[in-house]
Amino acid sequence: MMRQTAALLVASAVILVPATQAQQTPAQPLELVVNADLGRVTISRHIYGQFAEHLGRGIYDGVWTTSGTGEWHFRDDVIDALKQIRVPNIRWPGGCFADYYHWKDGIGPRERRPTIVNTVWGGVTEDNSFGTHEFLELAARIGAEPFVVGNVGSGTVQEMAEWWEYVNFPGTSPMADLRRANGRDEPWGVRFWGVGNESWGCGGSMTPAYYADVYRRFQTFLRGYEDVRPFRVATGPNSGDYEWTETVMREAGWAIDGLDLHYYSLAGTWSRKGSATAFGEAEWFAMMQNTIRMEQFIERHSAIMDRYDPERRVALIVGEWGTWHDVEPGTNPGFLYQQNTLRDAVVAAYNLNLFNNHADRIRGANIAQMVNVLQAMILTRADQMILTPTYHVFEMFTPHHDATLLPIALEHGTYAFGNDDIPAVHGSASRDSTGAIHITLVNLDPNASRSVEADIRGTSISTVHGRILTAGTMNAHNAFEHPDRLHPVAFRGVRVTGQRLTMELPPKSVVALELR
Ligand code: AHR
Repeated sequence: MMRQTAALLVASAVILVPATQAQQTPAQPLELVVNADLGRVTISRHIYGQFAEHLGRGIYDGVWTTSGTGEWHFRDDVIDALKQIRVPNIRWPGGCFADYYHWKDGIGPRERRPTIVNTVWGGVTEDNSFGTHEFLELAARIGAEPFVVGNVGSGTVQEMAEWWEYVNFPGTSPMADLRRANGRDEPWGVRFWGVGNESWGCGGSMTPAYYADVYRRFQTFLRGYEDVRPFRVATGPNSGDYEWTETVMREAGWAIDGLDLHYYSLAGTWSRKGSATAFGEAEWFAMMQNTIRMEQFIERHSAIMDRYDPERRVALIVGEWGTWHDVEPGTNPGFLYQQNTLRDAVVAAYNLNLFNNHADRIRGANIAQMVNVLQAMILTRADQMILTPTYHVFEMFTPHHDATLLPIALEHGTYAFGNDDIPAVHGSASRDSTGAIHITLVNLDPNASRSVEADIRGTSISTVHGRILTAGTMNAHNAFEHPDRLHPVAFRGVRVTGQRLTMELPPKSVVALELR
């Protein structure tokens, strides 16, 4: 497929330039041009958002536990680790669970909250001990903005409107008074609000035209108050469902603030996704090939949105993304618990660079999911916790949060496997508020390094510091037995001479550079 992309691929801030055959050998450097004085778009920190669903051990065991005390409490170890990656927002309570969730089950004294069965995920008992107050407390402790997804599939307009009033109304009203009776005087000021989740599937199996009408109705009753206006997020397309975007933007675009695209990376099929850790190069390549499809989805959905919203007022939110593997052997298939290797880190770095480069339209994203579910930042076992390679990528990319995106032109080279090939090197660049330039690069090729020569235009540089995340094997990962096998280390393969940088990107590596 990528053989056909021999033409220039122009994104909003990056030009991927194919290398000639001669340039594909590591001996021939790939050219990177960074236009340090041409930035005009801010990379929203909300691109680095997380997702925490009532799914498996994402909430219970992940952030909320009875371990040690016998009483429900937050996991401080997990919260402290999440603070380090400066989580900007957390999407909750789902996912599919959102359209099953009735928020009033999760307020008031815990011993009086009803118990339900989570028929969406694993058929386990949900005691509702983690509800609205607990979620908003968690977000506050992490320093993240809450992103609540309301129930459209099995809920009512009144139920959603009352939830909005409960968390946001400052004065005297039935819901604000109920909030006070439950111990919270001040409203929380929750602005990010999803109107359903995957309404084309688990959220109600709706057609786009039907959903557009339902959306218009539900959002009408999310009334802005003095201190908080809703940022209304509509269910967006599933991968390449362009009809969904077309219809929803045409019929309801005027009432939407964010359109929520979902796309997962798989190495196999939905019925045989493949192991998270036991894989070879065929599965590595398939995963990369599948991941880079995200670019065409973003560009094509954005092009449709441009027709209805040329000012780009409506954000494209990639509300669910990440790798989806078979669950770890012996775990509940409904819990979606998977390990996380260097392969996942490379996928994360590719996607985050891509989102940065489309920051003019993508102003939010949520990796699925934060703890113990799918491509998690953190895995827990009893009182133990490990940081995954994906966590480290999120940490390495923190300097891009709210920085100014810098346009780059990057000769990408190719990574060939079998009869196919894909671009090997991807990157993005930004300038932070102190003037430092940050460049993040990823080499998708697990076999060969790539030399890169960078021309930094429009500024002068004197120092460069780099960090790298890589390992000797594709499936390297952290485990409870060896929790710190993978972490970023100093990158010594970069030199600065005048305005030029020269570097050697090792195979399967993620590199973050800071230039001053
Ligand atoms: O993240 C797991 C599930 O994937 C979510 O609940 C759903 O929205 C998506 O299909």
